[in-house]
Amino acid sequence: MISIKSNREIKLMREAGILNYKTHEEVKKHLKPGITTKELDKIAYNFISSHNAKPSFLNYEGYPASICVSINDEVVHGIPGKRKIKNGDVVSIDIGVEVHGYHSDAARTYIIGDVAPEIRDLVNNTEKALMVGLSKIHEGAKIGDIGYAISDYAHKHGLSVVRELVGHGVGTNIHEDPDVPNFGNLGHGITLKAGMVIAVEPMLNLGERYVYMLDDDWTICTEDGLPSAHFEHTVVVTKDGYEILTGDISDEKE
Ligand code: MF3
Ligand code: CO
Repeated sequence: MISIKSNREIKLMREAGILNYKTHEEVKKHLKPGITTKELDKIAYNFISSHNAKPSFLNYEGYPASICVSINDEVVHGIPGKRKIKNGDVVSIDIGVEVHGYHSDAARTYIIGDVAPEIRDLVNNTEKALMVGLSKIHEGAKIGDIGYAISDYAHKHGLSVVRELVGHGVGTNIHEDPDVPNFGNLGHGITLKAGMVIAVEPMLNLGERYVYMLDDDWTICTEDGLPSAHFEHTVVVTKDGYEILTGDISDEKE
């Protein structure tokens, strides 16, 4: 079932989105060579907890940490641990925040130091693919319009699209209906309505699209070992477009 959020619910989800953005900014401050992924997890846990909120991912279907940190060939759901960030890494950080029972979900990918130009392009184009996908959102559009735009953009830039994982509705659960695939056909799929809240999250690979899961039963990696990037925003569908709930709030008054 796809829920339509009331104005009251959207207000609460805005709060969850703003705290998600701020948590990303906090983690970013510490994201430097030498820090362990577990230390980043702790920073996020402490930041979220100190704001009367909860990390959505912790214990979600048994997930053992507050954030996901996925490095290089890891696509998503990397579990924080003793691994240290190093120069040349491509690091995806995925964060979920729950405020007053409502969730927000957002991911970003960072380049640490020096990388080959093609890797820089992978990361920049994955973020652009997210924005191109979001630009298709408005009441009356179809879910397939989003995925079509993302995969079209990816393919035009020589990147492949992971198909095994998809975006999703967000609300009182971190994962709700509908699925939001990063591929699809124009004019196909469910019709978007104002008040739907969805997370759009392209995972694009430099090489082939195929992935596998590590023995930890969480981490998804590229089959060919080439790097992957991931960007995600939680957005609410409006009559004329969409509002990003997890976006930059630096222009706004607090
Ligand atoms: N943003 C991730 C997703 O939608 C959330 C992962 S939840 C976790 O897949 F618990 F699996 F980490
Ligand atoms: Co998500």
